[in-house]
Amino acid sequence: MKSMYDNEMELNFLSKSNNEAFARITVAAFVAQLDPTVEELADIKTAVSEAVTNCIIHGYEDTEGQVKIKAKILRNTIEIEITDNGKGIEDVELARKPLYTTKSNLERSGMGFTIMESFMDEVDIHSVVGIGTKIVMKKVIKKEEKQEKIEEEKNALMN
Ligand SMILES: Nc1ncnc2c1ncn2[C@@H]1O[C@H](COP(=O)(O)OP(=O)(O)OP(=O)(O)O)[C@@H](O)[C@H]1O
Ligand SMILES: [Mg+2]
Repeated sequence: MKSMYDNEMELNFLSKSNNEAFARITVAAFVAQLDPTVEELADIKTAVSEAVTNCIIHGYEDTEGQVKIKAKILRNTIEIEITDNGKGIEDVELARKPLYTTKSNLERSGMGFTIMESFMDEVDIHSVVGIGTKIVMKKVIKKEEKQEKIEEEKNALMN
């Protein structure tokens, strides 16, 4: 069946902290085809890192499981889904709040979701206690440049 996306990839790995860099670099390599700016690429890598770290340290805690990443490209938008089958989040709205953490004793600052939200255009959290958590993040690449082009074209038409 033909995909509705221009491109797609899927990545599965064990919830080991060694795999956090692997995940972030792999997603960055996939996004590279959209020709992102250095800043956009850095934003995406940071957001992926935060989400994957959460799966490893909160989702699976002292156990081990699979982390799944799906990335999809549609025109100039990248959508990244990061899923674990871990313990789930009891109160998603509370978890989103800056500085909220359930692991304050482990030098966590409770800023992961806030960072994801500030670096990506959209962050959705789907979570069921005892089943797992899925984070869906979207970012439009080269948004400013595209906007400038539209303005330029508009001006050219008007003059
Ligand atoms: N994948 C997940 N599975 C279960 N709980 C999660 C998951 N991701 C986040 N949480 C819960 O949401 C809280 C907030 O997450 P957030 O990433 O914002 O902060 P943190 O991980 O505690 O600290 P930091 O990211 O700053 O190190 C976590 O403390 C945890 O209770
Ligand atoms: Mg975190």
